[in-house]
Amino acid sequence: MASPVTEPEAIRVRVAGKVNLALRSGPRRPDGYHSLATVFQAVSLFDEVEATWAEPGRFTVKVMGEQAAQVPTGDENLAVRAARLLAAAAAKPSLGAELVIRKSIPVAGGMAGGSADAAGALLACAVLWDLDVSPDELRTLGAQLGADVPFCLAGGTALGTGRGDQLAPVLSRGSYHWVLAFSDGELSTPAVFGKFDELGLGAGRLEAPPELLNALVSGDVAALGRTLVNDLEPAALALRPELGQVLEAGRDLGAVASIVSGSGPTVAFLAANESDAVDLSVKLSGESVCRAVKRVSGPVPGARLVV
Ligand code: C5P
Repeated sequence: MASPVTEPEAIRVRVAGKVNLALRSGPRRPDGYHSLATVFQAVSLFDEVEATWAEPGRFTVKVMGEQAAQVPTGDENLAVRAARLLAAAAAKPSLGAELVIRKSIPVAGGMAGGSADAAGALLACAVLWDLDVSPDELRTLGAQLGADVPFCLAGGTALGTGRGDQLAPVLSRGSYHWVLAFSDGELSTPAVFGKFDELGLGAGRLEAPPELLNALVSGDVAALGRTLVNDLEPAALALRPELGQVLEAGRDLGAVASIVSGSGPTVAFLAANESDAVDLSVKLSGESVCRAVKRVSGPVPGARLVV
């Protein structure tokens, strides 16, 4: 009797991008990083990472989606690095993985797209290989790959300190509606931090604004809008002055607040409610100030299995 042919099992993980509601940065440290006090919110823009078994020691990645061509597919790919790191930590030479990434989070857009893919690969491979690994261990491995990876695993709303990788939960009521303006081109995070240093920024208080944390506890959109802050915004604007027009367009069209997301160039507009967000996204699409406009909400969970 012929043996049954079984399809190789694919493990799929969905992982969200983020906006920083507050990003306060100190000056450059001796290790090249900056100490941060940041409040992350995961928003409903998802990459998907799929993992299937490959022969021992073989790790590959295929990237699909609009900006796929901009993502490296060699050993420097963050998802491949994540899979290799997990395999090394498990110390099992039999492990290998073929990864497929379906991208919706903009590449080098200030929304932690690469970190999200690393987080997705860690979870997908841990399940694929049936490893006995705790969420804490995954977070520790994640922090070795990038400062935003622990948050991408966790999702929700969180305060990040240290390099942004030391997380504490933040109480947040309700759901917030955002309109995202994606830019043509990318901004490199090291380049934005470099400009931040050059401009002599980083002397401010290194704490998440208490008024912002209060706004989240009470679910007060207007108060949240008043307290959004991004210390990297002047540096991103210095490198990409045209982002000033994008920020202004959102304000003129009635956004509660406009802010550069992380190191940019994505701009996030906070809307008062869902119907205002629909309105704003339609109007902004007609302004030709950006590559694309997308409506999202947050907070949403972090890396999760798709079953
Ligand atoms: O941690 P990740 O590799 O995502 O960071 C990319 C770069 O951003 C770092 O190499 C560093 O130049 C800069 N960065 C920083 N301080 C942080 C996070 C990132 O200077 N807290």
